Amino acid sequence: MEMDPPPKMLASLTITILMMMMATSVALASSDAAVLEGQARALLDWKASLDNQSQRALHSWGNTSTPCNWRGITCGTGMHRHPLVNKGIFLQGMRLRGALESLNFSTLRTLTRLDLSHNLLAGSIPRSIEVLGELHALLLQGNQIRGSIPLGLGNLTKLHSLMLHENELSGEIPSQIGNMSSLVTLNLSSNHLVGHIPCEIGHMKHLVALDLSSNNLFGKIPSSIGGLTELTSLYLYSNKLSGQIPRELGYLLNLKDLQLGINALSGSIPRNLHNLTKLTVLILWGNKLSGLIPQKIDYLSNLQYLSLGENILSGSIPNSIGNLTKLTTLSLRNNQLSGLIPQKNRLPFKFRVPESW
Ligand SMILES: *[C@@H]1O[C@H](CO)[C@@H](O)[C@H](O)[C@H]1NC(C)=O
Ligand SMILES: *[C@@H]1O[C@H](CO)[C@@H](O)[C@H](O)[C@H]1NC(C)=O
Ligand SMILES: *[C@@H]1O[C@H](CO)[C@@H](O)[C@H](O)[C@H]1NC(C)=O
Ligand SMILES: *[C@@H]1O[C@H](CO)[C@@H](O)[C@H](O)[C@H]1NC(C)=O
Ligand SMILES: *[C@@H]1O[C@H](CO)[C@@H](O)[C@H](O)[C@H]1NC(C)=O
Ligand SMILES: *[C@@H]1O[C@H](CO)[C@@H](O)[C@H](O)[C@H]1NC(C)=O
Ligand SMILES: *[C@@H]1O[C@H](CO)[C@@H](O)[C@H](O)[C@H]1NC(C)=O
Ligand SMILES: *[C@@H]1O[C@H](CO)[C@@H](O)[C@H](O)[C@H]1NC(C)=O
Repeated sequence: MEMDPPPKMLASLTITILMMMMATSVALASSDAAVLEGQARALLDWKASLDNQSQRALHSWGNTSTPCNWRGITCGTGMHRHPLVNKGIFLQGMRLRGALESLNFSTLRTLTRLDLSHNLLAGSIPRSIEVLGELHALLLQGNQIRGSIPLGLGNLTKLHSLMLHENELSGEIPSQIGNMSSLVTLNLSSNHLVGHIPCEIGHMKHLVALDLSSNNLFGKIPSSIGGLTELTSLYLYSNKLSGQIPRELGYLLNLKDLQLGINALSGSIPRNLHNLTKLTVLILWGNKLSGLIPQKIDYLSNLQYLSLGENILSGSIPNSIGNLTKLTTLSLRNNQLSGLIPQKNRLPFKFRVPESW
């Protein structure tokens, strides 16, 4: 036969449990405080690795008990409610000179934004960056960062924005990049990247802007890009891409800006590109495209900028171009086109040949 515990025992049990809970929460709180202090120390170590001028710019970085007040550092609530942990580093355009390798990422796992853009950082992106699993934005553009894109970036599955453009990155774009399934903006332009565009890029279904321009990429444009139906901007210009323009690009119905100029693309312009009725800019300048200009080009009724120059397009210039009432710039020069530009007086645009495109 079971008996209820006497009231006195119940009370002491409750107190014990309460005390245990308080002790746990104090322990958790102090563990978050310890995390913050470890983060402060890692940041100070990094500061010490920078040049003197950079260190002066970070003069507010000092007291390890108050890192949330340091310049460019933001904090937020940690795992255990009230204590603060380091959530963001915002140090753009401060002429900081040093390297990322000196930053101990393993202490900074709580970071959601890391913005070190437009500084003078050199060295490479350390492999250890893969531990920053909470990161939403990694902004390193406009530095002098070398080496290859680490495979471990593929682990950063919460990343929305990856900006590595205007650096000195080399090597191939790793296929693991496709694992960053939350990515909305990917800008790798103006580096020295080589190799093929990995077809895994087609896994990043939320991409809105994809810019791989001004690199040395070669091979075909993967047809998997046609699955990125949220894309509004696709820039692949100034590479060494060859083969046909995949007809799958005609599925990107949200596309506003398509720039494939200065490559070695061949074959004809896919007919279904006329489905891209939101296009305002279409630049295919400087390829080896042949065949006719599609008659239905006037379906692209929002076009403001159309550049098909420096190709080997033939046949007559379709009259329907005259229907593109929003066009301000048209370049068709250096093709094998015959006939006249459709009745110029019908064209609302100031006819000019752009300098660079
Ligand atoms: C940086 O500052 C330290 C101490 O102030 C000085 O000894 C050192 O020469 C400086 N280095 C440069 C490159 O100016
Ligand atoms: C660091 O900040 C704490 C809290 O504001 C303060 O008590 C302490 O004196 C400061 N230490 C130094 C060396 O300034
Ligand atoms: C980075 O920080 C961790 C603690 O979070 C430490 O174990 C490790 O030794 C540090 N690495 C370096 C290179 O200082
Ligand atoms: C990164 O991903 C790879 C493969 O998916 C895995 O083996 C590795 O443990 C991950 N690294 C981290 C730090 O989570
Ligand atoms: C990451 O990408 C690689 C190559 O695309 C793939 O083999 C691997 O399964 C992916 N890992 C995860 C965790 O999705
Ligand atoms: C990528 O960055 C460059 C340089 O800031 C910018 O001009 C370009 O518009 C960006 N690409 C996209 C698709 O936003
Ligand atoms: C795109 O264009 C093709 C013909 O070129 C047409 O058959 C197809 O239905 C169009 N698709 C959409 C989604 O409008
Ligand atoms: C487009 O242009 C063609 C040829 O000039 C013309 O026959 C046609 O009616 C125009 N369509 C529209 C919708 O204005």
